[in-house]
Amino acid sequence: MDLQTPLAAKFLAFTGFSFAILHLSAILSKESMTISTTLRATGGITFAVLLGVAYSQKDAAIAPAELHRPSAQPDRIILTWASDPANSQAVTWRTSTSVEKAVAQIAEAEDGPLFKPKARTVAATTEEFQSSLGVAKYHSVRFESLKPATKYVYRVGDGFNFSEWSHFQTASDKPAPLEFIYLGDAQNDLFEMWSRVIRASFADAPKARFIVHAGDLINNAERDDQWGEWFRAAGWINQSVPSIPTPGNHEYGAPPNGVRGLNRHWRPQFTLPENGVKGAEETNYSLDIQGVRMVSLNSNVMQKEQAEWLDKLLTNNPNRWTVVTFHHPIFSTAKGRDNKDLREIWKPVFDKHRVDLVLTGHDHSYGRSNLVTGLTKKEGGTVYVVSVSGPKMYNVTKAEWMSRKAEDTQLYQIIRIDGSRLTYEARTARGDLYDAFDLLKQRPGKQNKIVERVPSAKPENLRPPQPEVKKAA
Ligand SMILES: [Fe+2]
Ligand SMILES: [Fe+2]
Repeated sequence: MDLQTPLAAKFLAFTGFSFAILHLSAILSKESMTISTTLRATGGITFAVLLGVAYSQKDAAIAPAELHRPSAQPDRIILTWASDPANSQAVTWRTSTSVEKAVAQIAEAEDGPLFKPKARTVAATTEEFQSSLGVAKYHSVRFESLKPATKYVYRVGDGFNFSEWSHFQTASDKPAPLEFIYLGDAQNDLFEMWSRVIRASFADAPKARFIVHAGDLINNAERDDQWGEWFRAAGWINQSVPSIPTPGNHEYGAPPNGVRGLNRHWRPQFTLPENGVKGAEETNYSLDIQGVRMVSLNSNVMQKEQAEWLDKLLTNNPNRWTVVTFHHPIFSTAKGRDNKDLREIWKPVFDKHRVDLVLTGHDHSYGRSNLVTGLTKKEGGTVYVVSVSGPKMYNVTKAEWMSRKAEDTQLYQIIRIDGSRLTYEARTARGDLYDAFDLLKQRPGKQNKIVERVPSAKPENLRPPQPEVKKAA
């Protein structure tokens, strides 16, 4: 039994045990001890012990405020970009408020340990943050003037307590082969059930240049323990692979002032570009990386303003490929979840500029379109994807727009772009290939071609049809 057993549990165990002893004494006093009374007495003692253990285990769960308490040792370390991935890198982390002066150190990576004295120190920007569990400090550093396509080593700390040295690599400043990971809603049971998915994605694509999170990273916007779980589940992956997150409806909630808004964790803990619509900073933004324009739209707010912004952004786009991510799909996987208004505002812009790929979440199931949604043409516009990486699952309604669909399946996606070819793979939590296609870029002004590579041996993961309920005559 846990030495930390709270008084209540000890009391219950003691009470149960005493009851058993009294029961045994009473039986003995009647001088009628038989095998059956022995069993009854033993049963009483066993019950008492089990009761005590059950209570002690329940009450021994570490309190969230303790489990997620910040210390002077940096945690929740995460790489993001605030500007050009070819010559900059941002890092953000958390400590207790006892840290007075936070810094990051950076050097070009070397084969051995000799980089250490060559590291330069960059002072962090620090803000204090009151979460649902207590006060912490969030620190961020933007490394600037870095060399393109170069491996760096960095660490963060306060001069006494440091993280381990970790690697990141700057992007090439020219088009170059690129691999990245895309994850739909993580949202629930993050540490328990989502961790295996993000870790499997990294194991399959350890050279991925970034991870797209298509919203609903957590379930309750202001719950610090859920953000703590999100960071724990990813572990040091976040220290080496930059994240490109877009907010879902679950990143919006009612903070202490009662007004629904972007959760207060988002901006202190992610250092992202502020090049989107004013009022949607660090949620609506774009980044160019190795010939690909990555765009995050915030589907929760200012949809019309973002449509105008996107139209302008894509009018001047020197990149060969354009990938857009946001949370609410404009083609939903289930009846009753259609986002018609959003589709009418955004799809004309996607069509006009021939966006190649749209990555979304929200429906807690999987659906992937062909090139012209609703038709089965081999040439056309945009491929739309809805996916889910966490364990919360909804049903799918069969619809013509989906070339591949799934229920009750946790997925991660690996996307590779090399010259005129984009290769897409969706894999299940255990690593099985579930969906795949290639997009082939044609000469400028021509529409993409698609090569379907759905694994024919793998049937769709769908729930058995529900028996029809017969109406009474
Ligand atoms: Fe959602
Ligand atoms: Fe969700």
